Amino acid sequence: MKQDDSKVILITGCSSGIGRAAAEHLAGRGHIVYATARRPESVDELETWARIAGDQARVARLDVQDSETIQVVVDRIRSEAGRLDVVINNAGYGQFGPVEEVTDEQVWRQFDVNLVGVMRVSRAVVPLMRACRTGRIVNISSLSAHVTMPFMGMYCASKHALDAVSAAMRMELARWNIRVIVVEPGPVPTPFQEKVRNSGADATNAQVSPYAEVRARVEESRRKLNSLGAAPMSRVVRAIEHAATARRPRIRYYDAALARWVPRLFSLLPDRLIEWAIRREVGL
Ligand SMILES: NC(=O)c1ccc[n+]([C@@H]2O[C@H](COP(=O)([O-])OP(=O)(O)OC[C@H]3O[C@@H](n4cnc5c(N)ncnc54)[C@H](OP(=O)(O)O)[C@@H]3O)[C@@H](O)[C@H]2O)c1
Repeated sequence: MKQDDSKVILITGCSSGIGRAAAEHLAGRGHIVYATARRPESVDELETWARIAGDQARVARLDVQDSETIQVVVDRIRSEAGRLDVVINNAGYGQFGPVEEVTDEQVWRQFDVNLVGVMRVSRAVVPLMRACRTGRIVNISSLSAHVTMPFMGMYCASKHALDAVSAAMRMELARWNIRVIVVEPGPVPTPFQEKVRNSGADATNAQVSPYAEVRARVEESRRKLNSLGAAPMSRVVRAIEHAATARRPRIRYYDAALARWVPRLFSLLPDRLIEWAIRREVGL
């Protein structure tokens, strides 16, 4: 890669999964990558990686729920690099549970991380991008923005909202040559699923829940669907790299056939048929 093609890239949620793989890949390709994570132990682990990866890998603590940590990182990028070419808003998690049982607090937190977190980071980076008259905001959304599954209502709603906000930002920021791109993966093998299970109603609650009987069935079928439709990490990372670096990036990336065709197929079928098929599949 020529020196001029090297980008300055900020990525959120690099403790594991897609964020970590994207950080490793993009730094390996010679880009200056600010890989961030919210937990101090994850930051320590990233520091170990950065020591091996070289000077282009830089590490910082960033919690998308904490504006101060975001601003500190953006100020550091401004003073060290003088510009920010790409931000990859990757941090996110899944709130699992039937809508009736998800608490207000769990709803706020889901939206605070998956949607408001993206907005906080974007608000902090846009002035720097505007000053340079160029920039890219790559938002990691999901197939779940288009296909709502039972027991995943809050997660799907947060990604649906992220798609809408991304479209508005794309039109608002185009005049400063700041592009807003969404990457919509289907299932990808990462620790995401373990974290989804952990954030559901606790075992005591589940025992008295009217959903107790179906919960295990829904979870089992979700696991099966996820492993059947899973795309390799390399495909998602390739889509992110294209969004971040291609001369003419697309507005929307699907990392796999499942993510590309399911929403299109669903738009042709009657809602009643789709929901019947999903309920049948998950045993509801
Ligand atoms: N895996 C899939 O099947 C799939 C499919 C479609 C879309 N996605 C999306 O892809 C993105 C990455 O997920 P993944 O699959 O790579 O899962 P993951 O391995 O669990 O990674 C999620 C990352 O987000 C971080 N995070 C959570 N809350 C945060 C906060 N408040 N501030 C900063 N970072 C925070 C996590 O940090 P901690 O380790 O500290 O929790 C972790 O680093 C998410 O937006 C997810 O919705 C995933």
